[in-house]
Amino acid sequence: MAEQFDLVIIGSGPGGYVCAIRAAQLGLKVAVVEKNPTFGGTCLNIGCIPSKALLHVSERFHEAGHAFSGMGISCGKPKINVADMQAYKDKVVEANTKGIAFLFRKNKVTSFAGAGRIIAPGHVRVTPSDGAPVDLSAEAIVIATGSDSARLPGLETDEKTILTSTGALALPKVPKSLAVIGAGVIGLELGSVWRRLGAEVTVIEYLDRILPGMDGEIAKVLQRELKKQGFTFRLGAKVTGVKTTRTAAALTIEPASGGKAETLKAEKVLVAIGRTPCTQGLGLEDIGLETDERGRIPVDDGFETKIPGIYAIGDVIAGPMLAHKAEEEGVAVAEILGGLPGEVNHDLIPAVIYTSPEAASIGKTEEQLKEDGADYAVGKFNFMANGRAKAMGETAGFVKILADKTTDRVLGAHILGPMAGEMIHEIAVLMEFSGSAEDLARTCHAHPTLSEAVKEAALAVAGRAIHS
Ligand code: FAD
Ligand code: NAI
Repeated sequence: MAEQFDLVIIGSGPGGYVCAIRAAQLGLKVAVVEKNPTFGGTCLNIGCIPSKALLHVSERFHEAGHAFSGMGISCGKPKINVADMQAYKDKVVEANTKGIAFLFRKNKVTSFAGAGRIIAPGHVRVTPSDGAPVDLSAEAIVIATGSDSARLPGLETDEKTILTSTGALALPKVPKSLAVIGAGVIGLELGSVWRRLGAEVTVIEYLDRILPGMDGEIAKVLQRELKKQGFTFRLGAKVTGVKTTRTAAALTIEPASGGKAETLKAEKVLVAIGRTPCTQGLGLEDIGLETDERGRIPVDDGFETKIPGIYAIGDVIAGPMLAHKAEEEGVAVAEILGGLPGEVNHDLIPAVIYTSPEAASIGKTEEQLKEDGADYAVGKFNFMANGRAKAMGETAGFVKILADKTTDRVLGAHILGPMAGEMIHEIAVLMEFSGSAEDLARTCHAHPTLSEAVKEAALAVAGRAIHS
């Protein structure tokens, strides 16, 4: 006899585990099926959390080596012990994944270890790595199976020389050289980690800019800052071949538009060209659920697939592949199932790139507003003129606020600077309430804070910044 639940969720990443907890809070009997030995999905195990642990350590290392002496601190040349750094990262990951196990117990969420497959609407079979399959039945099923690194045809990732992000998070020593294919979020974040620790990093990007999708001005200034840190960029270039030995790779690179090929040698290669949704083995073909041209599961506004009672959330559906987007969708589905009006405002999902300086963004980019033919005003303020940034010695970057010229409603905001990822949220709240640049400009901000740059950029929308 199949064990009966109100809701069975396949996948315990930020989409799945948050959905489970919220549904349990609303009184539903919930089961989560997870094939990985630990909970938390990509985000906690091989994504957000371990990458931020390594970014944190490498940033402190870089600071100690480059900034301390200028502030009067002498502690000699810092040394990195990569094994200890990795142990620190593993401890951070373990604390987080154990946290999910605790939350499941606290909220009486039942977990099943194994791969989940939908054998029919309302029925999930769990196949453990050893042992007999277990059948579950449920009123509703949520697919929250996430995504995996996209592979580049012809470049087999062995996680030794040719790496995905997972291999690049686990290197046992600092490589002399690292070639990164793709100037997206992963390429720049993990490139930063190993660059700060001493690797020569070359980023090869197909397009003629880094970070497609981010505001162009932010991307341009960030590229300049990363160059200062020693990054080499090969934009408008494609990798057309590779030869690997046990210890290095030789990449053949050509201009994206065609032309003379050259060879780039590197000890390690990180392939970071995007991620693909995980739908294999879920039994979608058996129940007649097709994926779109990018392998994603189509859903309606309530995250329901075309099969009633089967929902999908997170990286496996359309939209930015971000943990907080998956979480919001998890909450929305749980609330819909709990009889509440769950919804997600997909126009206001913040994005943060944890480089140094950080880049953070919400709402429309300037490029999008131009494309929409919007009549907008720009307010900008440089961290160079912010007292706190000067005191920290971190003055690169700026805040840019885009507001409707007639109504003054904020349409987008983009920050490049220290703690940008924290500062973006006051603008997110403002935008959720359809606030204006003047609302932000008239809100008293404590001094001296980095957030004063946000207020000044809001003042600058009306041409009345005080400190510039
Ligand atoms: P996932 O987190 O991928 O979880 C899916 C889970 O489903 C996995 O545990 C998997 O084992 C399980 N699963 C899959 N198939 C089955 C099956 N058939 N049966 C049982 N279980 C199954 N996002 C951010 O917002 N901020 C960041 O800083 C950030 N950094 C990142 C850094 C890296 C290196 C990477 C790779 C990603 C990063 N992301 C970041 C993206 C973020 O990790 C994802 O957007 C997020 O994890 C998606 O959540 P999800 O719940 O949809 O899926
Ligand atoms: P990405 O989509 O951010 O960037 C991929 C880059 O590779 C693009 O610039 C693209 O033009 C380029 N590219 C594609 N094919 C190429 C080729 N053949 N040769 C050269 N360049 C090529 O993907 P990435 O960096 O792999 O990250 C995947 C996703 O993970 C992100 O989109 C993001 O959603 C998530 N993520 C989020 C983080 C955050 O929020 N801080 C951190 C890391 C990942």
